[in-house]
Amino acid sequence: MIAFDPLGNRERVRVVDLHPKLGDLQAEAIAGLRRLPKSLPCKYFYDSLGARLFEAITELPEYYPTRTELGILDASVDEMAEAIGAHATLVEFGSGVGLKTQKLLDALIDPSGCVLIDISRAALEASSAQLADRYQDMQILGVCADYTQPLKLPRPHRPSSRTVAFFPGSTIGNFTHGEAHDFLARVAELVGPGGGLLIGIDRQKDPKVIEAAYNDSIGVTAAFNLNILSRLNRVGADFDLAAFRHHAPYVESEARIEMRLLSEINQTVHIGNAVVTFREGEFIVTEHSHKYDLGKFEALAQAAGFRLTGHWSDDHDWFSVCFLEVEGERP
Ligand code: AVI
Repeated sequence: MIAFDPLGNRERVRVVDLHPKLGDLQAEAIAGLRRLPKSLPCKYFYDSLGARLFEAITELPEYYPTRTELGILDASVDEMAEAIGAHATLVEFGSGVGLKTQKLLDALIDPSGCVLIDISRAALEASSAQLADRYQDMQILGVCADYTQPLKLPRPHRPSSRTVAFFPGSTIGNFTHGEAHDFLARVAELVGPGGGLLIGIDRQKDPKVIEAAYNDSIGVTAAFNLNILSRLNRVGADFDLAAFRHHAPYVESEARIEMRLLSEINQTVHIGNAVVTFREGEFIVTEHSHKYDLGKFEALAQAAGFRLTGHWSDDHDWFSVCFLEVEGERP
């Protein structure tokens, strides 16, 4: 356990480093490009340019999820805080100390502490310091770990009524249904009996609205998608970015957006020692973004050990923030 001490207070901010294994981008890319359809892991979108492009996406007029979820929080965060109750420990995946987390923390009734989990130690230290600065009375515990793998949470010093995780942003939509089930089951175990999860889900709606959000008119999402190829070029690939085109159709049978990069020509690409051929029109799937039916999401959560006990939506039911709870006595 390594103390991290930006404020000269050893007890209030702690970072526990579980030394997560970082993926091998080149090996994972080659494996994905050998599959049919060809695919690349969406986690590789987020290098420093990718993270900034994603920030820009959230401000696009067509990209409704971020704005809509923020609106739901503005309207109902006090009710959410009430459902969570006093003296809870909040757990945040990915060390976002974004606006949504701040809104929730501002509304929570005397939280006992906040646990941030992130794979990047640098990001974790930065956000722990930022949170500690803003919430002077709260203990911040950072855990450097891969939250898609099993892990144990550190406990804050102050007694805590329950542990509640926060997973906004509809990121669960980027998991396959199997991964979403496994993630929810892991969170249920992590927060334990009496624990909870406040989670954002993007709902099914008119496909035209969804497609516009992922095919914006000024091409920010296209740049975000193509950036994954630039990133691969830095680890030994020779993609010609001009020979690929962004396309993100809504596949109704799967209720999901498929982010694709379409090869404009017949071409051959090298990655390290691997050779990958593309036919004109063939595509790489870089991301799925599932859109949920509330009833089906409830069933998924239930299969993973949660009960849906509250949900808040916008006027169009485009997005929902759901409160899931694990049955049982709080320890
Ligand atoms: C991070 N995630 C919830 C975004 C989404 O909407 O699925 C990622 C994204 N991909 C393209 N635009 C936004």
